[in-house]
Amino acid sequence: MRGIDELEDLRGKRVLLRSDLNVPLDNKAGKSVIVDDGRVRASVPTIQALRDAGARVVVVAHLGRPKGTPDATYSLAPVATRLSELLGAEVAFAADTVGESARKTVAALNDGDVALLENLRFDARETSKDEAERGAFAAELAELADVFVSDGFGVVHRKQASVYDVAQLLPHAAGRLVLAEVQAFSKVLDDPRRPYVVVLGGSKVSDKLGVIDNLLDKVDRLLIGGGMAFTFLAAEGYEVGGSLLESDQIETVKGYLDRARERGVELVLPVDVVVAADISEDAQTSVVAASAIPADQKGLDIGPATVELFRGKLADAKTVVWNGPMGVFELAPFAGGTREVAVAVSLVDGTSVVGGGDSAAAVRRLGLDEGAFTHISTGGGASLELLEGKELPGLTVLED
Ligand code: 3PG
Repeated sequence: MRGIDELEDLRGKRVLLRSDLNVPLDNKAGKSVIVDDGRVRASVPTIQALRDAGARVVVVAHLGRPKGTPDATYSLAPVATRLSELLGAEVAFAADTVGESARKTVAALNDGDVALLENLRFDARETSKDEAERGAFAAELAELADVFVSDGFGVVHRKQASVYDVAQLLPHAAGRLVLAEVQAFSKVLDDPRRPYVVVLGGSKVSDKLGVIDNLLDKVDRLLIGGGMAFTFLAAEGYEVGGSLLESDQIETVKGYLDRARERGVELVLPVDVVVAADISEDAQTSVVAASAIPADQKGLDIGPATVELFRGKLADAKTVVWNGPMGVFELAPFAGGTREVAVAVSLVDGTSVVGGGDSAAAVRRLGLDEGAFTHISTGGGASLELLEGKELPGLTVLED
């Protein structure tokens, strides 16, 4: 996969740069506030490198899932403002993606300038399943540029016009973020130093089946927390009270427990949990054994004995992948497990990779030192699909 440094002289060239600027927004009193600008910050090094090379940078991105038509709630305008602050340079914002505003904005760029075009998903063709429709949109995007750079790691699992089709129409390269992400994941997937420990959490076990399936035979230890742990506990025969439970997955999970035993993989489940009757900031909590969850209580975080247990299992690890929070970390009474496990992962003397989505958000929201991890992914679904061992269309297309 070619990087941007291998592209021929970029001075004066228009570069169409696909970034992932899909950040959470809080719409308060008619004003959109970016809640977590991690993805915007992660996009800056490639934009800056292209500017330094004298390119005219045309950034394209999506925000949320609008219905293929303009919708002010999903405008990228607040992102243009934040990007401009981070770059310390003006970012021209076009009010459409392939219309008159986009064409004029791009034509007005000088060498080293940056423009951001409005949300790609305001055009239904971006995400169309129909190849011809996507192709037509990609061709209009390609007309705005001389070169395509793919740097939106969070969307490389999507076969969409700005991710996949446009790469077939222009000379292309991977941006710095995409290269860094691919390198980090191939290190933990292809050549892990041992002990190799994977920590999985998050609410639904059904979201993680592919990951467990792919990694179960590769790891030395698999630590399971979060809402998904209760389906494992139920598979072991425990009552889980009002905790999250996917009954239809119990048989599958039993299969994983058997497979782990057969392969000598340590599959470690919570031994205690923080429970409460309701999920709120002022919930009355208590800690109970995982085998004694009261019928009227929900397990909402791993307990202190589990934190100790997980800490011990991580202490000598040389490779760690962590994906998914250990509890409802957004609420203070249930944030402790995620915080402590995140710290333990960050202290690992080896490679620590944090899957994107909620775990990356947790690191930032809990104010942890991002620099203490080897890599924090910007991809949610994309990082999961890599961990599942899938081929991602937005990466395959860059490989010629
Ligand atoms: C993400 O948030 O994971 C990416 O930006 C992809 O967004 P999507 O799931 O709406 O395609």
